Amino acid sequence: MERGHRQDVPPSVHFSPGVGGDVCVDGHPLAVIANEHGTPAHVVSAASIRRAYASIRAAIGDRALVAYAMKANGNPAIVGLLAGLGAGADVVSAGELHWALAAGVPADRIVMSGVGKSDAEIRMALDRGIRAIHVESEPELERVAEIARATGQRARIGLRINPDVDPKTHPYIATGLHDTKFGLEIDVARRLLSCIVADPFLDLVTIASHIGSQIPEASSIGEAVAISAAFAREAMAAGANVRAIDAGGGWPIAYGDEDRAAEPHAAFGAAIRGALERAGLAELEVTLEPGRALVGDAGVLLTRVVFVKEQAGKRFVIVDAAMTELVRPALYDAYHAIVPVSARAGAPSACDVVGPVCETGDFFARDRSLPPLARGDLLAIRGTGAYGASMASEYNARPRAIELLVDGNAVRVIRDRGRVEDLHPAPHTRP
Ligand code: LLP
Repeated sequence: MERGHRQDVPPSVHFSPGVGGDVCVDGHPLAVIANEHGTPAHVVSAASIRRAYASIRAAIGDRALVAYAMKANGNPAIVGLLAGLGAGADVVSAGELHWALAAGVPADRIVMSGVGKSDAEIRMALDRGIRAIHVESEPELERVAEIARATGQRARIGLRINPDVDPKTHPYIATGLHDTKFGLEIDVARRLLSCIVADPFLDLVTIASHIGSQIPEASSIGEAVAISAAFAREAMAAGANVRAIDAGGGWPIAYGDEDRAAEPHAAFGAAIRGALERAGLAELEVTLEPGRALVGDAGVLLTRVVFVKEQAGKRFVIVDAAMTELVRPALYDAYHAIVPVSARAGAPSACDVVGPVCETGDFFARDRSLPPLARGDLLAIRGTGAYGASMASEYNARPRAIELLVDGNAVRVIRDRGRVEDLHPAPHTRP
């Protein structure tokens, strides 16, 4: 899918050949990191995250809330780093809400999305006093109102509308077309307005949309925001105290196409602000929910070649990482650049880079041109900072990979490698 567009965040600043040609992350040779911490390893650059945050912030302006979509990479060290820069969080579960708060994100900078929030999740969001619960259906609205009434609280809510805009991305990550499960159709949202405004336990503060992920053209988000803005006007006319437009996430990264011309962050910021200005709502607060654009380029998956095998005239490079560490190629046929960590002599030729898991779909690349490789060689799979570690599984009883954060002179373990003996912990015995 997604040979996306080049960003104005230079994707390779943190990722460079160092002395002798070995690839480094922020000056730390990946070969040294692999020897010290083993493979497979998710390695993330703090500097790259800071740079992406500054670029998005510059594109959208100081007043906006940048609520990091934690599903991209919920490691508390990464969420905490972003919280320290002023980011909030977009959460989709009690677990993410717990970890956002634990990582230091103030409750009033947290929004909660999701089509199937449980009672416990709604209660937790109300109790912690988050910025807004983004409601995605009529039955959810009823449940939020009931719980708010029962607990005597006024619930701050957003309506996540489904603007029926085509994000022109992979169908599995398109969310803003009306035949997906996400959001409220405008007609339904419109019908609910009078009840919301009349309910003393509901405070409609935000109109939100999120039309998909890895969106190639800023104009698609601009279109969605224009629809949100028009609906916000209706809501205000009906008496709601709407304070913010949430434009969701979906800003893309490059995924290997570093040389192509692209829509920079500035284009996405301008599309959103332009839509609000045209609607005469430039004074409303703006919330963004970027995930991938903040952390995607910052990560590499470091893996070692286990065997090289020729079969049916094909070269298979079998590595120690698998779909359990990065499922995107298996799930979306996603393209990730793969770079040998040390320069290898010899003419490049086509190969499949595959993992050890017992699935034909367990591949990182097919028919990819790479130099001759041998057992023990290291490869860096790029663009894995988002939806890599966060979508990991322990399939085939594979313990989770170690996660490392490179920050200046330090390489910090931010999640230990899993252990075989912890794969099946004993059930808790409760008194
Ligand atoms: N807000 C909401 C409500 C979302 O559902 C998502 C992502 C985001 C924000 C952040 O989107 P981003 O800025 O990262 O594009 N696993 C897929 C991506 C699924 C995205 C799901 N929702 C992948 O690996 O491409």
